[in-house]
Parts: sequence; C-alpha cells; structure tokens
Amino acid sequence: MPRKLFVTTALPYANGKFHIGHIMEYIQADIWVRTQRMLGNAVNFVCADDAHGAPIMIAAEKAGLTPQQFVAGIAAGRKQYLDGFHIAFDNWHSTDAPENHQLAQDIYRDLKANGLIETRTIDQFFDPEKGMFLPDRYIKGECPRCRAKEQYGDNCEVCGSVYAPTDLIEPYSTLSGAKPVLKSSEHFFFRLSDPRCVAFLEDWTQDGRLQPEVANKVREWFSVRSNPDGSTSEGLGDWDISRDAPYFGIEIPDAPGKYFYVWLDAPIGYLASLKNLLGKRGEDYDAYMADPALEQVHFIGKDIVTFHTLFWPATLKFSGRKVPDNVFVHGFLTVNNGEKMSKSRGTGLDPLKYLELGMNPEWLRYYLAAKLSSRNEDIDFNAADFMARVNSDLVGKYINIASRAAGFLTKRFGGQLAAVSADGDALLEHLKDVAPGIIELLAEREYGKALRETMLLADRVNAYVDQNRPWELARQDGMDSRLQDVCSTCIEAFRLLTIVMKPVMPHLAAQVERFLNVAPFTFESAQSLLGAGHRIGEYKHLLQRVTPEQLEALFEPPAQDQQALEAIEIGANDAGPLPGGEAIAPTITIDDFARIDLRIARIEQCERVEGSTKLLRLTLDAGEGKTRNVFSGIASAYAPEQLTGKLTVLVANLAPRKMKFGVSEGMVLAASHGDEKAQPGIYVLEPTEGAQPGMRVR
Ligand code: 2FM
Ligand code: ZN
Repeated sequence: MPRKLFVTTALPYANGKFHIGHIMEYIQADIWVRTQRMLGNAVNFVCADDAHGAPIMIAAEKAGLTPQQFVAGIAAGRKQYLDGFHIAFDNWHSTDAPENHQLAQDIYRDLKANGLIETRTIDQFFDPEKGMFLPDRYIKGECPRCRAKEQYGDNCEVCGSVYAPTDLIEPYSTLSGAKPVLKSSEHFFFRLSDPRCVAFLEDWTQDGRLQPEVANKVREWFSVRSNPDGSTSEGLGDWDISRDAPYFGIEIPDAPGKYFYVWLDAPIGYLASLKNLLGKRGEDYDAYMADPALEQVHFIGKDIVTFHTLFWPATLKFSGRKVPDNVFVHGFLTVNNGEKMSKSRGTGLDPLKYLELGMNPEWLRYYLAAKLSSRNEDIDFNAADFMARVNSDLVGKYINIASRAAGFLTKRFGGQLAAVSADGDALLEHLKDVAPGIIELLAEREYGKALRETMLLADRVNAYVDQNRPWELARQDGMDSRLQDVCSTCIEAFRLLTIVMKPVMPHLAAQVERFLNVAPFTFESAQSLLGAGHRIGEYKHLLQRVTPEQLEALFEPPAQDQQALEAIEIGANDAGPLPGGEAIAPTITIDDFARIDLRIARIEQCERVEGSTKLLRLTLDAGEGKTRNVFSGIASAYAPEQLTGKLTVLVANLAPRKMKFGVSEGMVLAASHGDEKAQPGIYVLEPTEGAQPGMRVR
C-alpha cells in the first residue's frame, strides 16, 4: 500500500527575502519528498507565506504600502529561489488567503465550543500617538536593574536581567517615541492548562514519534519551568491568542477589533495551502483529510518547536481535527563557522547571489545533504569543505565514472552496451545489494550516511576502473570486447549510483536519464540493469567543478550601500554585525567599570540544586577567610565535578540576592551567545595559571 503523505516546511514570514537557512530546510524536505515519491508514495508538499503580524504591518507602513501590497511584493520574489534550487512544492500560498481566514475562524469556533477559550483582561503598554498596543520589541527604556539605557521591553542586553516591559524606567515607543501608557484590554486565551490538553500533549509528545532530543526538551515544559531569576513556574501556561486592532491578521469571530495572534493562524496556513491546491485540482479537501491513512508531517527549525509540538497539535486536536503525525526538527546553519543564520540577517551566503553567479544548485543540494542527518543538530557550510566535497567526491568519484567510460562506448561501439563478465557482474551485484539500504537511509532523513555509503560504492567502481584501465585497453589490439565489457560495467554502475542520488540531484539525474536513453528512474529500477544491447546517447559533460573564484565572489561582502538597502528592505535598523549575538553595550567610563569589584575565587564545592534544572550551588573562596554561597545558572553546561577545585572570577560587590533556594552572595562570570536558544553553551571564565583567590581583576 503506497503511503499518503501531506508534507510542509515552515511558512516564512513575508517580510524579507529567503536566506540560506530557508533554502536548507526546503532542500531537506524536498529530498525527503522526492524519496517518498520514488518509493511510490503519494505526497502533497506545500508551503506559503506567513503574512500576518505587527512587524509586517509596520514594515508595510514604512514602505508606504498596504500590508497586502507589501506581502504580494515579497511573494513575487519566491519563485526564482524555489525553481533555482529545484525545490518542488506542489503549492505556494499565503496565510492571508481566504482559505486561511475561513479555516482559522472555523477552528477557533470549534475550540470555543469545546470550552477551551477564555477571556481575561490584561494591562499592556499602549502607544497613544500610534493608537496601538505595543509588542515588547517596540518598547525601549532603561533597565530597572542596571539602568542601562536603550534596552528592549523584555530583557536587558547589558546585565542580562529579564523583566516585564512595565518594569522599564522611562519607557518609550520605538515607533513614535511617545511615552506608552498602560491600558487594559480583553484578551482571548487558549486554555492549554486544561487537563485534557496536558494529558493529550504529554502523550503526543512523549509517545516516541518525535526525535528523542526534541521529546526530551519538550518534556521540560510540562513539569517545572525554572525562570531566570531562580524562581519556578509549574506546567503549561495558557496561550494568549488575540491581538487588538490595528493588526494585520484574521478577525476573531464575534469580537470586533480583535485579531488572531499571527502564530495561531500561521500553521493553519499549512491546511489552507493544501486546501487551495486540492481545490485547483478539483479534489475534496475534507475527504482527503478524513482518510485515516493520511500522514501529516512538518519540517521545521529548532526555534519554533514549542509552536509545533504544543500549540499546533493542541489546536488541531481540540478543534476536532487530524493531528500531525510528526514534526521533523533541524538545527541552524552557520556559514564558515560564523554567525547563526538568523531570520533577520542571513548575510553569510546569499542564495540568490549563488544562483546569479551561475553556481550549480545541485552542488549545494549535494553538500547540504552530505551534512544533514535526522537529528536536530546545527551544521556548518564551510567553503573549503564545500569545494572538496563537490570536486573530489561528486565530480572526482562519481561523474568521472561516466566520463571515463562513455566516450569509448559511443565512439567505438555505437553506444551499445555489451554483456558484463564475472568481475563486473560481481561489482554490479554488490551495488544492487547495497542500494536498498541507501534508499532506506534517505527515507529516514539520514542523508549524510546515505551519501557516504554511495561514495564508498563509487570508490569501489573507481578501483575497478583503475584495475582495468579502459584507456589502455583502447590502445591494445584484440581487446575490443573487454573494453566494451569494462565500459558497460562502468555505465551500469554509474546508472545505479545516479538512481540512489536522484532525490538529492534530480536535475542531474534527469540529464543522466536522457544520456542513457531511459525512462525516469524509480528506486525499483536500481534492482535491474540496462543489459547488453542497450544503446546509450552521447555523453555531454554533466557537472563542472567549483572554482575558488566562484567561492570568493560568493563571499565577497556586498557593497556598503547595498547592505544598507537590504536592511531597510527587511525592516532591520542596524545592519552591523552582532558580536556573539548582541550589540556592544553603551559606552561607560573607567570609573563606571571600577565600581564593579571582580575577584579571583576558588570553587571549593559545587553541587546540584534540588528542584532546579538550571542552577548549581557554588561554595567560593575569594581569600576573605570565609566562603561565599553563589547560585549560578550553569547546570546545563557543567557537571558539578567539572568545576570543583577550579579558579574563576567573582563579582564580589554585587548586592546579595534572595532566591528560592537561598541567598546568592555574588555572581561568577561566564560567556554565552546572545541568542542562547540558537547557540547554546555557557563557558565559565578561568584565569591563567598563577592567579590566587582574592586577587582583583581590573
Ligand atoms: O518562524 C517563522 O519564520 C514563522 N513564520 C514560521 C511559521 S511556521 C507555520 F506555523 F506557519
Ligand atoms: Zn540591565
């Protein structure tokens, strides 16, 4: 029985061009979809622009356009990327399309009828000049803790504290500069804390369907949440799904002036895009979704796991709809070991520039596939590695098999294959035996492993070529039939390798199909051979090598004005790099710095804190003749025994702080990336040898 699959990738916000992170996700999903199709399964593969939300509304306003015009402009730019990288979505739609308005409102009504919607009045900052409630990111002010200026509404980039926007000192709206006023408003909540939701989600997320590392992470959200200040909150909270006008979004039925928060209607866009596709084909959407055999899977990045493993399955389940069968989570892509390709500044490798430079899209597909696994892991695009893999593996090992053999066959034997003798036959039998395992790896999203296996096969074929040296056979008298035999073996082998790599390089495979004069490959065709007497076509070079010049051009930084222009386009206001993921803090004087007393301290003892997954309790000797007790949020990065006995740096004159687990008498210094979710890792500072407890750091 062929499987029936409904596959999506995350819907990109319609406020900027694609960056390489989008393209990676689409390529990952596209390879899987092509694999499934070659296995004979029926797939609908869709995506759409995620059109709604305050940032898009504001970007449109800045551009002097209506939100609809603005997102239409973005949508018009999508095709060149998708076609360029052979990403074969069956449909591209928009969350602002009528199907989505209808579906979102229907789903909401069903949730409400099921008793899962409740309203509460909340106080929120309101920009009196703009006449709108302000999302946290549009409020700035002084940090209530360290008084650093120009800090965002939810956390301080200087001292790292987390707070509510209403805690800011001298808050102002970044939209108008006005002082925001507190205003209350009725909000709609999805009651995720309802025991029915909790029970369902605990099961859905922990029944083995999710990647283990994802399921583990998700499990934490059910039990206890440890907050940055050491306090904890219990379990799943309710989800605020409404926003007040003006908002670019979908109106909430029977609630004038209220709109769905963009994250409610965004994933519903998966269904809307599918519905639109089926409509165009004259197929019935409800019947399609009602089929119990249908499998629904979503490819997403690790930054949007909460939405897809909690909110989205619950939304579907409690509106009486089919829930996703799985969510496949991938990590981030870095470029040349560099910064994370964040949504707003994917500057490292511009996919459009890649295409415009005439670089082959299948090089990138091959390279990314070679790096991808089924795990939620970050991967790095490295220019030197890219060149090596494409030139040595893809061209050197694989393409070369055909280019070494095809010419002799066409010139000397009219393109006709001969019977293959025993040694060649053994080689081909081995390839046929290994092929199903490679195909299985592709189906399990283990593309890296699949390609490594394939290259091992290519090595074997090349060893066969080196043993038989067709170019020498061609010069010897009476060796014609052996030459034809050896070259036939090579072409058969090349065909088998091409079949298993077809999902990764579909365009190249199509060229090979033409060259070999055969119907489009299926995976089944990897169990048979062309056979003696088959006539191949003329060989034209299939794949060039990457040149250093191309890579240089690709990574040449764009001209200054170009960068500025792009920044405006995507609504960013600071085009500069963010070292470690955050801007350098406002300037201070040496006297400001001197107020902070940093001392070398020895970690006498280090232990876990019961009831907290984040904190370690440190007993520190800073040469004061007594020890200090300090709690540090580093439990995710260190086992207690790793730190015991080490020296570190203590902020010695920080006011003691009462925490749930006791009083913390200072703080130890540690480095981390500004976007901890994207780039996890905490690194405690340690002085070089010779430092003694009590010494001041200045
Ligand atoms: O994070 C994002 O880019 C979102 N636009 C993804 C939405 S995925 C789906 F829910 F629509
Ligand atoms: Zn601060």
